[in-house]
Amino acid sequence: MADRRGEVVLVGGGPGDPDLLTVGGLRALRQADVVLYDHLAPLACLEETRPDALLVDVAKIPGGRQVSQEEINRLLVEHARTGAMVVRLKGGDPFVLGRGSEEWLACAEAGVPVRVIPGVSSAIAGPELAGIPLTHRGLSQNFAVVSGHVGPGHPASTVDWDALATGSGTIVVLMGVTNLGAICAGLVERGLAPDTPAAVVANATTPDQQVVRGTVATLPDLAAQAGIRPPALTVIGAVVGLDLASP
Ligand SMILES: C[S@@+](CC[C@H](N)C(=O)[O-])C[C@H]1O[C@@H](n2cnc3c(N)ncnc32)[C@H](O)[C@@H]1O
Repeated sequence: MADRRGEVVLVGGGPGDPDLLTVGGLRALRQADVVLYDHLAPLACLEETRPDALLVDVAKIPGGRQVSQEEINRLLVEHARTGAMVVRLKGGDPFVLGRGSEEWLACAEAGVPVRVIPGVSSAIAGPELAGIPLTHRGLSQNFAVVSGHVGPGHPASTVDWDALATGSGTIVVLMGVTNLGAICAGLVERGLAPDTPAAVVANATTPDQQVVRGTVATLPDLAAQAGIRPPALTVIGAVVGLDLASP
């Protein structure tokens, strides 16, 4: 077994179901001296760590306790410099809207060896386990995964909402619960047909998974009525009209 001491391993933990952690991710977790994890990581997988491993909660909970990204970067470097094998366990894939690349750069700039083990992204697995394929011959040949942290028209959004509204592909919005109304209205204003099928999937791949289906015009109200809370993702496009979860 290779000596991993003094190294940081960014592990994609998948969207929540512990079965979706990769074999490589599981192996790294079992070897780790220190694990930095947050609330979107599959917490059940922490049972796989060594009894003497140090487990550090670095959650950034929306509207709640926040450990800054700078502090997380600092902790990664500090622990690795003690000679520890450090795993940074993240939800989904580390490099999909997950700031894993910032952590990678912070380690590299500090001269700390770092590698990444990809994970199953919620952007793909979430719709899939709700019965929605992101592509389907004749319906959609492409998909875009975008951040809904800020909505259409917001000066901080670098998403090309016009292109999404007029394109033929599937749209997957992460971090978009708060702005769901603005996102759906913004897409319709930019040319998306209001009767385009749309769905929200909350707590995807976990026993608490919740799926709400509607159209881009009706989804915000339906999601509010269903009490949808993060973590949740939104899928918009003709493929939502398929329901592969129902027999
Ligand atoms: C900071 S992003 C990280 C995404 C992650 N890197 C990935 O590949 O899945 C967090 C967002 O991912 C989505 N997300 C993560 N896990 C989810 C889950 N189990 N169910 C639904 N959405 C989820 C939500 O939109 C959440 O706000």
